[in-house]
Amino acid sequence: MRVLIVGGGGREHALAWALGRGPGVRTLFAVPGNPGIGALARCLAGDAGSPAEVVALARKERVDLVVVGPEAPLVAGVVDALAEAGIRAFGPTRAAAAIEGSKAFAKDLMARHGIPTARFEVFETPEPALRYLRRVGAPVVVKADGLAAGKGAIVCPDLAAAEAAVQQVLVERAFGAAGDRVVIEEFLEGQEVSAFCVTDGETVVPLPAAQDHKRVFDGDRGPNTGGMGAYSPAPCYPPELAAAVEDQVLARTVRALAAEGRPFRGVLYAGLMLTREGPRVLEFNCRPGDPEAQVILPRLASDFLELVEATLAGRLAEVAVRWRPDACVCVVLASGGYPGSYRTGLPISGVEEASRLPDVLVFHAGTAWQEPVRGPAGGAPGGNTGAGRLVTAGGRVLGVTALGPDLSAAVGRAYAAVGRISFDGMHYRRDVAHRALQGPRP
Ligand code: AMP
Ligand code: GLY
Repeated sequence: MRVLIVGGGGREHALAWALGRGPGVRTLFAVPGNPGIGALARCLAGDAGSPAEVVALARKERVDLVVVGPEAPLVAGVVDALAEAGIRAFGPTRAAAAIEGSKAFAKDLMARHGIPTARFEVFETPEPALRYLRRVGAPVVVKADGLAAGKGAIVCPDLAAAEAAVQQVLVERAFGAAGDRVVIEEFLEGQEVSAFCVTDGETVVPLPAAQDHKRVFDGDRGPNTGGMGAYSPAPCYPPELAAAVEDQVLARTVRALAAEGRPFRGVLYAGLMLTREGPRVLEFNCRPGDPEAQVILPRLASDFLELVEATLAGRLAEVAVRWRPDACVCVVLASGGYPGSYRTGLPISGVEEASRLPDVLVFHAGTAWQEPVRGPAGGAPGGNTGAGRLVTAGGRVLGVTALGPDLSAAVGRAYAAVGRISFDGMHYRRDVAHRALQGPRP
């Protein structure tokens, strides 16, 4: 089978790795991919966010199946465009992806179907939003409605901050069209956990939960990022809680979307706050998490392609998914300055050495392959082997991932591998999984 992966981050490297392990995939392609994915797949130049380009590439390479990683192509309707072209794709349609593409839609859906979430109101103009804020007071969370690359949720400790956030979204249009509407919601306290399922629109197959580290610095300080690390399992998420979430959140949402004529097929991701009153949905995503996929897929003992095929055939009810008992930990190595501005093109050393350690996987995110600069005679300049080199090309550069018999062993292996890798300005959290290792066990 010829399979095309859409995307080029750490999650897509993990997807490529999981697909490539099974017997069913003969040729793997990725658009745009990255150098890590390039070791497993043929990387194709193109705009992953453009449904038309993805369809053209899928046709040209005669692929049998497309697996979509990021939210932007899904919300833009890449799965619909592929379906029109007769090409099978794993991921929700545009209508179903609205669960991530519009926070107002997601909140209204939850309200209509009794899915537990923070109290909220939606506004299109500033005056009523400001009046509402003065009535409910702070702390409060102000969210741009649309996709904002993970930056659209502003946690406001006081009223002044909340008023400024409304101004920023609705008036200054800091998030562009994503800020046509604003969701103002109750501030919740508790541990955050990422719950996932694969669904064919009817059957829900839960995946192991994970926790990620959103803040850039140790001790959960500094600005939010796309995720500085993750681990699975999550000790704060015992089986009874997982069963309640499967029933009240995941299955209920899948039924709600189907009932409203937006059947969801693919990976549904609920970002949860575990409050004293029970789990509450902070947000839904319409795809696997990044870096959560990097710690969930290595724990899968069954063939990932089988799960994808069963989803597309509507046969998930017949599938028995097996998981390895091992824990998995991913430490993200980021560029100095991330999530603010950072330099790129910096040489990275030690990736191969780290990858050779037992039970270690180094997933590439923001990396690029730099061809050697040719001298005037056509040869590589002095000292260069001519083979090119791996350089940084993004904020999150690598996801150093390790399996182990328990979280503590996996943490040890992951950091041992991190110790082999370096680049100028490299920054990473030294406390990945600290809560799980120190916190009270349920
Ligand atoms: P979101 O993009 O909606 O997942 O929000 C990003 C981050 O903001 C979450 O991971 C939380 O840390 C925080 N957050 C979002 N909503 C709330 C809320 N209602 N209460 C407290 N924190 C929140
Ligand atoms: N790790 C957060 C996300 O994938 O949205």
